This record gives sequence, structure tokens and C-alpha cells, in this order.
Amino acid sequence: MNTTKKEIGETIREIRKERGLSQEELSKRMGFKDRSGLTKIETGVNDISGEALAQLAELLEVHVGIFFTGKTCKLPEFKIARYDERFRDDMIFMVLSAKNALGKIPSINPDLLDIKSNYLDRGDMFWVALDGARVIGCVGYETINPGEARVHRLYIKPDLKRQGVGTALMQTLEEYIKNKGYKKMSIHIGDEKYWESKLFYKAKGFIETQPNILERNLE
Ligand SMILES: CC(C)(COP(=O)(O)OP(=O)(O)OC[C@H]1O[C@@H](n2cnc3c(N)ncnc32)[C@H](O)[C@@H]1OP(=O)(O)O)[C@@H](O)C(=O)NCCC(=O)NCCS
Repeated sequence: MNTTKKEIGETIREIRKERGLSQEELSKRMGFKDRSGLTKIETGVNDISGEALAQLAELLEVHVGIFFTGKTCKLPEFKIARYDERFRDDMIFMVLSAKNALGKIPSINPDLLDIKSNYLDRGDMFWVALDGARVIGCVGYETINPGEARVHRLYIKPDLKRQGVGTALMQTLEEYIKNKGYKKMSIHIGDEKYWESKLFYKAKGFIETQPNILERNLE
């Protein structure tokens, strides 16, 4: 539980960084003239008004309560399921909100509109992570060479990052392709706004073999 303005400020900073936003960028979105106001809030020098907290919650796509609980509230149980058409719209909504949280203008990847034709009918696979009936994550792969799976569309709902959902999706994918005899996984990372995925894949043992292409051999 956060009880001081310093602790609230630290939570704001932590979530801002997870969203890949600089102090300058977030200050601009909040309508501040420069970053000094936000610096003072994040370091606990200045108080933050309820109105500004509500605005921050909207911009960072979190529930306002997280500023008071800190990032200790854990995700309840979630499960991984193979993609099914009934998940389509909520999955697209989740991906758009994940892109928005990265500071990108959300756009729909055409392959997500038709997972059946673009993945399943080609012998590849796609999964979603579910919290109850809601989609909170997704991932799929495409066979780009015999025995090589290119990972696509790993996205986690913004306020549920760093709670192991990405790991669980990747474990499911890895186990599935290993059983099919694949020898390698690879990923192409987009622009610099995807910095956290680079850290994620490096933490999972992927190595950057070409600019923005990361690979990992399967045992
Ligand atoms: C990248 C992403 C999928 C990771 O999913 P996640 O559920 O948050 O990841 P996990 O909780 O399983 O993290 C596993 C480990 O990866 C590393 N990691 C993940 N996010 C990180 C971050 N922002 N900074 C540093 N390390 C990070 C850590 O080692 C972490 O373990 P830890 O939390 O015990 O330290 C998620 O941040 C996301 O959806 N980002 C936006 C979309 C995106 O970039 N997709 C990839 C497109 S190529």
C-alpha cells in the first residue's frame, strides 16, 4: 500500500517507464509546459491532485487505484487457450490498447482479422491468455523455414504486464513447436517503441542476430 506522496510518485514513474514514455512525453500529454512538474510528483516533492491522478490513470491505461495500492495487486488466475473466433474482437481491442500504451497510433494488423486463414489453415497456431472471459494476451507463430517458427503478435494487456502472462504464452508456444520437432524460434521487433519486448526476449535467452531480429535455438 502506498501511503506517502513519494511512494505514489514511485508507482507513477514505474508505470510510465513500462509504457515506454519519457517524462517529457507524458508531461506534454498532461498539458504541462515542461517536465519539471512531473519530476516533482515522481520524486514526492509535490502533491498531485485527484484530478491529475485521474488524468494520469487514463493516459497510462491503469485503474486509478494502482497509484495507492502500488504494483502489488496481482493478477488472479489466467489460462491459455487456443485461438477461437469468439475471442477475435476482444483480442483486437486488447492489441490496440497495448499499442496505444506504447505511445503508438493504434492500427489493426490485417492478419488478426482472420487468424484462421493466416495461421490455423496454414498449419501454424495462435493462442490467447484469458482472465475469465476477457482476452489479456495473445501470441502466434508462422513457419518461415522448415523447423523455424517466427513468433508474431505477442501482446499483453497494458495494466497486466510483468506478471508472467507473456512468459506463459511463450512457454505454451515453445512446448507446442518442440513437440512438432521445430529447432528454432525467431522474432522481428518493430520500432524503438517496442523496447520492452527486446528486454523480454533477451531475458528469455534470445540473441539478436541481425538488427531487430532475435533468435533462439530449441534444445
Ligand atoms: C513484451 C511483453 C509481451 C512482455 O510480456 P509480460 O507479460 O509483461 O512479460 P513477463 O511478465 O512474462 O516478463 C518476463 C521477464 O521478461 C523481462 N521483461 C519483461 N518486460 C520487461 C520490461 N518492461 N523491462 C525489463 N524487463 C522486462 C523480465 O526479465 C521479466 O521477468 P521479471 O518480471 O521477473 O523481471 C509486454 O511487455 C507487451 O505486451 N509489450 C507491448 C507489446 C510488445 O512489445 N509486443 C511485442 C511485439 S514484438
